[in-house]
Amino acid sequence: MLLCLTPAEMQAACRSLRASGRTIGLVPTMGALHAGHLSLVAAAQGQCDIVAASIFVNPTQFGPTEDYAAYPRTFDEDFQKLAAAGVHALFAPSAEGMYPPGTTTSVDPGELGNRLDGASRPGHFRGVATIVARLFHIVQPDRAYFGQKDAAQIAVLRRMVRDLNFPIHLVACPIVREPDGLALSSRNRYLSIDERRRAGVLSRALATAESLAHNGETSAEVLRAALLATLATDPLLRLDYAAVVDPDTLLPLAETSHGALLAVAAWIGGTRLIDNLLLPPRA
Ligand code: PAF
Repeated sequence: MLLCLTPAEMQAACRSLRASGRTIGLVPTMGALHAGHLSLVAAAQGQCDIVAASIFVNPTQFGPTEDYAAYPRTFDEDFQKLAAAGVHALFAPSAEGMYPPGTTTSVDPGELGNRLDGASRPGHFRGVATIVARLFHIVQPDRAYFGQKDAAQIAVLRRMVRDLNFPIHLVACPIVREPDGLALSSRNRYLSIDERRRAGVLSRALATAESLAHNGETSAEVLRAALLATLATDPLLRLDYAAVVDPDTLLPLAETSHGALLAVAAWIGGTRLIDNLLLPPRA
């Protein structure tokens, strides 16, 4: 696996990897890789000739009181996992390499960036859109792979690809879960044994609302009440949001027969976890 540490190196590597019309799939990550990330690599391998990945803990998407300094950095293990998975090129720049002094340009996702996670993490999606736009310019992939777990991130990036005419197909890959339903996340490693046991409540809340929807319930208010009722079974959980929204605009829905995103975010102890479920349009 080719390791590139600067934007110029990665740009040159991708130029030659792309030679003779080979397609490139990009898997952007912040490292601390788990099976969810490796499922993105596998999806890229199935659809592209070349797979490129990036590892970069992007400072601009963390708020001043968030876990940027503490975010797990496990580069050696991540490198081995990506090499073993057959990734062709890894881009792992430094913060100074990506944001040299004097960098001022950013990508503002507008109002969409202030919804769901954007409401409680001001500036987060501006940071995400900015770094992903830069990765897109450096790698120029044909396809880019993201986890559906970050449903609001998917909505923001889809809108950015459309608004800025990136010739890139964005692929959202299914959430990978633990046996008790907990969505895989690099932040799960922050959970104590007791918090890890309690964390299953997020996916249970979604499953409860999903079974109501399967039985014909289309009222967003009723589905949201079901989410809240299950989340309330853990009195120590601190709710951020439980929402029933349009998956593209992230605006609240009144009813779900045309499809809906059910999304939850909550703190279990000091760890903020998110999870979601897409309800398909009713036939
Ligand atoms: O989903 C993530 O890990 C990050 O938000 C991303 C897309 C790699 C941008 O830093």
